[in-house]
Amino acid sequence: MRRRSGWSFDENAPAGVDYSSLEQATAYDTMHQRFRRYEEEAAAIIERLGLGPKSTVIDMGAGTGAFAVYAARYVKRVFAVDVSKAMLGRCREKAREAGLKNLTCRVGGFLTYRHREPPADAMVSVAALHHLPDFWKQVALRRAARMLKRGGKLFLFDIVFPSAAQDLDGRIQAWIESIRKKAGSRLAEEAEVHVSREYSTYDWVMEGLLRRAGFRTAGKHTGEGFQTTYVCTRV
Ligand SMILES: C[S@@+](CC[C@H](N)C(=O)[O-])C[C@H]1O[C@@H](n2cnc3c(N)ncnc32)[C@H](O)[C@@H]1O
Repeated sequence: MRRRSGWSFDENAPAGVDYSSLEQATAYDTMHQRFRRYEEEAAAIIERLGLGPKSTVIDMGAGTGAFAVYAARYVKRVFAVDVSKAMLGRCREKAREAGLKNLTCRVGGFLTYRHREPPADAMVSVAALHHLPDFWKQVALRRAARMLKRGGKLFLFDIVFPSAAQDLDGRIQAWIESIRKKAGSRLAEEAEVHVSREYSTYDWVMEGLLRRAGFRTAGKHTGEGFQTTYVCTRV
């Protein structure tokens, strides 16, 4: 492994919510499944990217395998990559319980993971890129492009703030309150940490970063509460 220089960003040090904790990894699925349907989310991603039995996919920031564990039933191979050994531990357990042999868990991140296999057909990343400041997001997206085949797909889902929004602070407060209602006070507190300490950015920044990393955005969808999806092709 290459040595980190003094000025390198340490992606293993939690920016906000501490996903390296075993307690967080154990509680994660119960908390998230109060407001998420993992199988439906994953099925929609598979369909949107046109993945099938010949596809190889990297799930970057895979966490407990919300996408990876489901996707492995439908594609040839999934690499679940995450900086948190605790989160990946849960992913591995779930894969074992489901008898999946084509899901490989790798400890690493956007800035440090080395994909030694042939370039993948797609990278999926759900709610992970905001752990990096913008300078490092660009480094991360350039590295992501190099892990993909030419024409490979990137599915990027994250919280992205609309630069044109009026009353952004009121909208952020309303978003946090809606999380409190749907998923409880712990996740509402995590959403506060997300905004105050993590690095979600503006739409114009994200779109510039994607373009400069060599991705063409074929689709953008903005959902409830700043949730934004970009479906991109590596040009
Ligand atoms: C909110 S969770 C999302 C997990 C999963 N993608 C999901 O949909 O449930 C964020 C994940 O990103 C991981 N993460 C944080 N920084 C990362 C980095 N630099 N590279 C890869 N993963 C990272 C965390 O360890 C955590 O598992």
